[in-house]
Amino acid sequence: MKNKKIAILGASSHIAKGLIFNFMHSEGFELFLFARFPEKVKKFLKENNLASKYHIYKFERFFSGKYDVVINCVGLGTPIKVKQASGQVFKLTEDFDNLSLAYLLAHPKVLYINFSSGAAYCSSFNQKVNRNSKLSISVSNIKPENYYGIAKIYSEAKHRALDKLKIVDIRIFSYFSRFIDLEGGYFITDMLRSLKKKDTFITSHHDFVRDFLSPQDLFNLIYLIIRSKPFNGAIDAYSSAPISKFKLLDYFVKHHSLKYVFDRDFKFWPTGGKSLYYSSSKKAASLGYKPKFSSLKTVVTESEYILKGN
Ligand SMILES: NC(=O)c1ccc[n+]([C@@H]2O[C@H](COP(=O)([O-])OP(=O)(O)OC[C@H]3O[C@@H](n4cnc5c(N)ncnc54)[C@H](OP(=O)(O)O)[C@@H]3O)[C@@H](O)[C@H]2O)c1
Repeated sequence: MKNKKIAILGASSHIAKGLIFNFMHSEGFELFLFARFPEKVKKFLKENNLASKYHIYKFERFFSGKYDVVINCVGLGTPIKVKQASGQVFKLTEDFDNLSLAYLLAHPKVLYINFSSGAAYCSSFNQKVNRNSKLSISVSNIKPENYYGIAKIYSEAKHRALDKLKIVDIRIFSYFSRFIDLEGGYFITDMLRSLKKKDTFITSHHDFVRDFLSPQDLFNLIYLIIRSKPFNGAIDAYSSAPISKFKLLDYFVKHHSLKYVFDRDFKFWPTGGKSLYYSSSKKAASLGYKPKFSSLKTVVTESEYILKGN
């Protein structure tokens, strides 16, 4: 069978790295990798001995190429970046989404996979979301922590309106891999940074639940979407089981001698506090998706690569 031509926009991103890694360990794909700094992508490929069929370009070359699938990884992937970007999140999201949509309008047979977020539910996340969840934003009091979710739901709505085109929005809640930026400002990256530096980890006394998707499961989901009957819709991504912060702390105390203290004044929620940040929507199962990794297994397996650099 002919190789599928896959274009990845934002090939230097955390999620793109996991996808590139998995695509390159699979048969039947040719990758077209686009980034504003292509040398970052080249460095990543070299460091990871990845040498299968690929082409690396700046974004300017994107429109003139021919692809079967476009995967958009451009965005703000970490709490620190979301905080720094503030209102810029709208323009960044729209610019690269519009670029992808323009390509799709010129090539309507192409499949466009976009990364949305659990934040698109614009919920208070005091309970897990599901396919019947409704937005809850104070219309007359929109806050900076709402911007990211609004940018995501706006893109999704635009995609649903283009219902003749093959557009799939994958909502990621949490994603973790060995390629994560430890300066990202997540609970998990702050904890790993403390462990690496042998510092006492300072965290809030609140527990929360997260659903860490593994790179392999995300790749499998994308593989199924590429192979499935074309559709236009959104899908929540999930691991085989979410995990609470306190359980993760217990694991790292037991297996890595983590030391931590609670700081009752600790506050860092650039996209809003999220006690239960996961979904019970299992729409992806209808494509044959069955996650192999739990959140704990994902964090344990992938963090080994990070911690062995100690
Ligand atoms: N990671 C998660 O847990 C998570 C969860 C939910 C949703 N998502 C979504 O998934 C997508 C990818 O996330 P990620 O974690 O992989 O993101 P990431 O690591 O922060 O990478 C973002 C990508 O966007 C590029 N980019 C940022 N600003 C740009 C600009 N002004 N012009 C051109 N390129 C720019 C970055 O390029 P440089 O490398 O040059 O900066 C990088 O390639 C995003 O849309 C994010 O919102 C991620």
